[in-house]
Amino acid sequence: MARKVPIGVLISGSGTNLQAIIDAIEANKLDATIQLVLSNRADAYGLMRAKNHGIPAEVLDHKNFTSREAFDAAAVETLKSRGVELVILAGFMRLLSPVFVKAFSNRMMNIHPSLLPSFPGLHVQRRAVEHGVRFSGCTVHFVNEDCDEGPIIIQAVVPVFPEDTEETLAARILTQEHRIYPRAIQLYSEGRLRVEGRKVFVDGLTKEETQALLQPPLEG
Ligand code: GAR
Repeated sequence: MARKVPIGVLISGSGTNLQAIIDAIEANKLDATIQLVLSNRADAYGLMRAKNHGIPAEVLDHKNFTSREAFDAAAVETLKSRGVELVILAGFMRLLSPVFVKAFSNRMMNIHPSLLPSFPGLHVQRRAVEHGVRFSGCTVHFVNEDCDEGPIIIQAVVPVFPEDTEETLAARILTQEHRIYPRAIQLYSEGRLRVEGRKVFVDGLTKEETQALLQPPLEG
């Protein structure tokens, strides 16, 4: 049996990605143990999800710290004291300083609701709809010192329709987020992710023919 990688999940809100990770672990599809759920907001619903599954959870309120670095140092300390090897940012809505990134170099993942490097930052589903793109999706990447910039591990693509609203697109993307985040963590757990510069190689992957995606599709 594969080893179980000790992870810490950082959240700021609803925590549906956290739930997908919990569900994958409980279904024996993900070899990980959640050592800690850490939220920077006391009202994050994800804290309730952790509690419901008997997972340790803590609040570290950023408002109690005088600088970003001080908050990050406390977060690193908390995660290390719990034996966390891999940090999972799951809707954690704070920029990280080098203090945090260096402490978990190539051991911290983030999920972002766009096909990076398109639409980094905030309100990305709305920006994708307004731009009129035909495809969007989600990206799991390793975190480096630049926001939404690190080496890409896995992406899922979804169609975007002219009738879409921010909400309908966000829901379509979120469904795929819940599939790819547990998968990315499992690949890490199996020791199959190798970072070389900007690229992430996945060991043991059989290269399959990929077909082009078209939206709208060709007719006839
Ligand atoms: C997700 O869509 C995630 O990709 C996004 O926040 C949502 C959190 O949902 N993250 C970012 O935008 C990070 N820049 P959740 O709390 O239900 O997992």
